[in-house]
Amino acid sequence: MSSPSQYFTTPIFYVNDAPHIGHAYTEVATDVLARWNRQRGTDTRLLTGTDEHGQKILRTASAHNTDPQAWADKLVREAWEPLLAEVNISNDDFIRTTDERHEKGVQAFLQKLYDDGYIYAGEFDGLYCVGCEEFKTKTDVAEGTGAFAGEQVCKIHSKPLELLQEKNYFFKMSAFQDRLLALYEERPDFVQPASARNEVVAFVQQDLADLSISRTSFDWGIPIPWDNSHVTYVWFDALLNYITALNYGTEDESLLERYWPANHIVGKDILRFHAVIWPAMLMAAGLEVPKHVFGHGWLLVGGEKMSKSKLTGIAPNEITETFGTDAFRYYFMRAISFGQDGSFSWEDIAARYQAELANGFGNLASRVLAMNAKYFDSAQPESAESAAADRAIAELVADVVARAEAAIDRFAIHEALAAVWEIVDALNGYITEQEPWVLAKDAAQRDRLGTVLATATEGLRALAVLLNPVIPVAAEKLWVALGAADAIGALNEQPLGEVGNWGQLPAGTKQTQLEVLFPRVEINEAK
Ligand code: MSP
Repeated sequence: MSSPSQYFTTPIFYVNDAPHIGHAYTEVATDVLARWNRQRGTDTRLLTGTDEHGQKILRTASAHNTDPQAWADKLVREAWEPLLAEVNISNDDFIRTTDERHEKGVQAFLQKLYDDGYIYAGEFDGLYCVGCEEFKTKTDVAEGTGAFAGEQVCKIHSKPLELLQEKNYFFKMSAFQDRLLALYEERPDFVQPASARNEVVAFVQQDLADLSISRTSFDWGIPIPWDNSHVTYVWFDALLNYITALNYGTEDESLLERYWPANHIVGKDILRFHAVIWPAMLMAAGLEVPKHVFGHGWLLVGGEKMSKSKLTGIAPNEITETFGTDAFRYYFMRAISFGQDGSFSWEDIAARYQAELANGFGNLASRVLAMNAKYFDSAQPESAESAAADRAIAELVADVVARAEAAIDRFAIHEALAAVWEIVDALNGYITEQEPWVLAKDAAQRDRLGTVLATATEGLRALAVLLNPVIPVAAEKLWVALGAADAIGALNEQPLGEVGNWGQLPAGTKQTQLEVLFPRVEINEAK
């Protein structure tokens, strides 16, 4: 990730239902990557949005006796936009596939591919899953059970597939098989993690079929520009959001030039669309393929993907109302290896909240600031001659920064966070060993007391910057209490790469009382 700019995208979310914590998980992970890059001083853009066309939304709207546009407007306003505030997403843009800018961009793209001979008319029949909005191949199909016994069902949704037979337009995806395989070969980190890459390569090595990209049986979609009796297949429409949001196909493509290509963060269920169909579309249009496509794991409930359609969804606010936004973000980034499946439990989040956030980090910050208040009249102490233990803290911080940076570049958010936590643990150990409260009793140790507390406070400064991408509310509170905002500038402006430069807080900087960062929580017995 060393280019001058970085563009991070989340998938755009179907508006058939309200978000659950699986969706919030995708949002938070992508947000952390974007915030981390901004903290590096990199010109960074974060995009998220909603996917509003297709049969699934149309059917949901009809089931609620409303039209799809009104339904989408309601869900965006009442559920999807509020989610961003609930988990503190710092997106620069929010695209809806019903935006005029998007519809025009999609039509411009389609017209170009049609004019260049990449789209043709044909006949198609196949088994379609409306839940996935995808034609299914034999390997994606299972035998139904219970009410669906004897029927063929989708492996993901466990619902019956529908036989679709239509005259469609097709995208000549098969023409890109060799170029795609060459891409995976030449850029082994294009699709991540490695297990996902292997699956994608195996898929493309089989016969890559052309893709049906239009529908005539319903009209909730973007009209095919040269044939209004067809609407665009919802996935072909949706994938283009990543470039229509950068004004693709308009007179001013400066955003596209500045930010494209992107890093796409998606759930593993939709990796194939992003790692196969999408690069083929871009190749056909003569655009660069993405930098990276990262497929993260699922939040599981009872061993299965958490989903609203299976009634296993937990609303994000059920968690944020108890633990707060920062803890939500911290927990999912820390407890689950990014790229693997994970599960959520109230016991686990409560335990980590108490041990790591409240006792580990929150207590450390409040103890150090309280000692500065008591022994140095709420000012940054002067550091005198340093001892090996003090230098070990500074060295650890520099080392952690390097390791965390490298982990983020591998999308290993959990590793970056675990590395940063080594500083929390080391500082707690340092204070226990140095016993500043004992030093304070001996006037001859005044210099040593200053050095110990100055070191610990510098450690807090480093933690505020390193944790700002993950727990921005607590990091900002700490920054303010340290007096750092006035002394060395806004938290967001502190270059992450310079965190290890020791002695940034000038001696004498006035500090203020720290609000409790992670207050005690009562967990409802019923949970
Ligand atoms: N609209 C498509 C994406 C189009 S992108 C051009 C879509 N939408 S979705 O709302 O169904 O899912 C959006 C994202 O949420 C996907 O990345 C999906 O993997 C993720 N998740 C949905 N349930 C999830 C879990 N239980 N756990 C983790 N992520 C989950 O697909």
